[in-house]
Parts: sequence; structure tokens; C-alpha cells
Amino acid sequence: MPETDVVILKALLESNSNFVSGNLLATELGISRVGVWARLEKLRQEGFGVEAVRHRGYRLIEEPSTLNEGLIRAYLDLAKSNVELNFREEVDSTNTEAERILAEGRPTPFAVLALRQTKGRGRMGRPWHSVDEGNLYSSFAFRPYLPPSQMQMITLWMGVQLCHFISTRLELHAMVKWPNDIVSNGRKLAGILAEARVDSDRTRDLIFGIGINVNSQCTKWPEDMAKVATSLADLNGKPLKINQIASELIQTVNSAYERYVSGAYKSEIFELWNRYDALRGRVVKGSKGKTEIVGTADGIDDHGNLLLTLENGQTQQIHAGEVSIGTRPETFAQ
Ligand code: BTN
Repeated sequence: MPETDVVILKALLESNSNFVSGNLLATELGISRVGVWARLEKLRQEGFGVEAVRHRGYRLIEEPSTLNEGLIRAYLDLAKSNVELNFREEVDSTNTEAERILAEGRPTPFAVLALRQTKGRGRMGRPWHSVDEGNLYSSFAFRPYLPPSQMQMITLWMGVQLCHFISTRLELHAMVKWPNDIVSNGRKLAGILAEARVDSDRTRDLIFGIGINVNSQCTKWPEDMAKVATSLADLNGKPLKINQIASELIQTVNSAYERYVSGAYKSEIFELWNRYDALRGRVVKGSKGKTEIVGTADGIDDHGNLLLTLENGQTQQIHAGEVSIGTRPETFAQ
């Protein structure tokens, strides 16, 4: 990615849709005006809408609807983010790529973003549909040195932070289905795959893989997925600025991680969980060891376990796995 493009894109973003003079860009970059024009032609081929008006200059009127490395870097620079970005056009899985980068001993935090994944994976060994249609496939790597017992809670924390971002920043509806499915109106909008390497008493490294359906039209996906998936664009009624979202997601995840490690999350997580909990008050079935438990979901405890109130009034904790939703206890009767 030529640095020139990042400088041009930054200037266009900073001008807030006003014109930026070609002379000014040429001086800033130390190239000719023809050179600036050539770079802008290249950006047009990448899906940017750039208006050029004689004696006024250039302005940005449209951003590409799929990920663009230069534009994400421009947004990150403007936000003064210090998270290292590793951008790939195609990769097996951004989580696997993050593992490879960690194995090289590179410093954390860093992010890996890809246009498409050939082996995108979800929880429970399921595949993650990862076509190049303007969705976000991202992984974030940290070396937290936290006790492994805290991994459940940090994953739930990331889930509610993601919902909070979608609902406050994008003003779209998102809820979290314990442990970390992000859903909207009962359809899957995003997912988090947390993978950690643990020594005996501490977490050596931690990777959060976050997939968000951003600009896909999920109704056009194969039928089995179309029935259960949705995207931000489906909710919004039109495509969103995915590169701005990517940059803000990087900052959101990084700040959420820092607030987790500092302990600041403790004063916020339960309020946020109550706000975005898709299960509260619903009858759900989970499992404890080999026993299936049906009860009404009643939030989480201090360790991130799901609390179920049984018909006899007892409370049971669900530690791991998945739960399914019913309407009444009888729904799950054998
Ligand atoms: C889930 O099952 O809900 C979790 C899905 C996580 C998908 C993301 S996409 C980016 C990252 N790379 C992967 O291979 N998986 C995660």
C-alpha cells in the first residue's frame, strides 16, 4: 500500500467533503500535479468516487463498499490509533494468521483484517461464511498474562462492547446471546471466536476473531444461511462505510481490552449485559456436564456463567457451550 494514497485519503477525509487543492496535495507529497491525478485515477479504480473540479481540486464523494487498506490506515491515522494493522486480501483465517504473527514474536496489540477467508471458522468447529462482499473478518491479538479463569468474562465483555458500538455508534439493533453470538431480531449479525494459549497459570496470548456481516445482502445467501443471518446493511436499508467501521472497531476492541485489564470493566459490565442480553427472561436449554437443564435466563454471574432459574425456583449456572431458546419449559420436554 503506497503511503502516498494514505496521505491523499487522509487529506480528503479531513476536508469533510470540501475540495482539496491538487497543488496542495502535490506540495505535501513532493510529487507533480499529474502524479496526484494519476494516484486519484488509481483510487477511482479501487471504488472511490472522487470529484475533480478545475481550479478547486478534488473531493471524496463515495467510499468503496468493501475493505480498502489505504482508507482504513487513513482513518486510523486521523484517530491517532497505535494498533498495528496487518491487512490481507485473502487468508485462510484471520485468527490463524494472527497465530502465525504471534509465533514470529511480534509485539501486541495488533489487528489482522482480510477481504475474504478461505477457511473462516466459527465456534464449535463450524465454518464461517467469508466471501468478499463487504463484510468484516478481523482478529485482534494480545498478550494479557491474566489467569485463564478470566477468559470467559473478557469474551463476554467484548460481546457487549460490540453491541454497544453497533447500537450507539451505528444506531442499529444488536443484542448478545450468551456467550457471544451477536444477534438482531433473532438473526445472527456477528460472531466472536476467542482463542487463547494458556500456560499453567496465565494466558500467554489471546486472539479475538470478530466477524461482522456489514454490507452483504444476506437474503441472497444460500437458503440455509439466509434464514438465520442478517447484516448491518440489511438492518440499515443501505450499505455502510465499512472502512470507517473497521477503523472504529479496531479502536473499540483495543480500548475494551485495556479497560478489561485495568479492571475498569467491573463497574460497567453488568449494566451493559442487562441492556444487551438477548436471553433474559427467555426459557432456554443448556447443559451441565451430561445433564440438560431447562430454565429461565437470568443474566450472568461474576465469572460469566449464565444463570438459569428452574421451575422449582433453584438457580443453576451454565459454564460453557451453547443454549437453545424455547418459549415455555414444555417446549423442551422429552
Ligand atoms: C461464531 O461462531 O459465532 C464465531 C465466528 C467468528 C468468525 C470470525 S471471522 C474473523 C475470524 N477468523 C475466523 O476464522 N473466525 C473469526
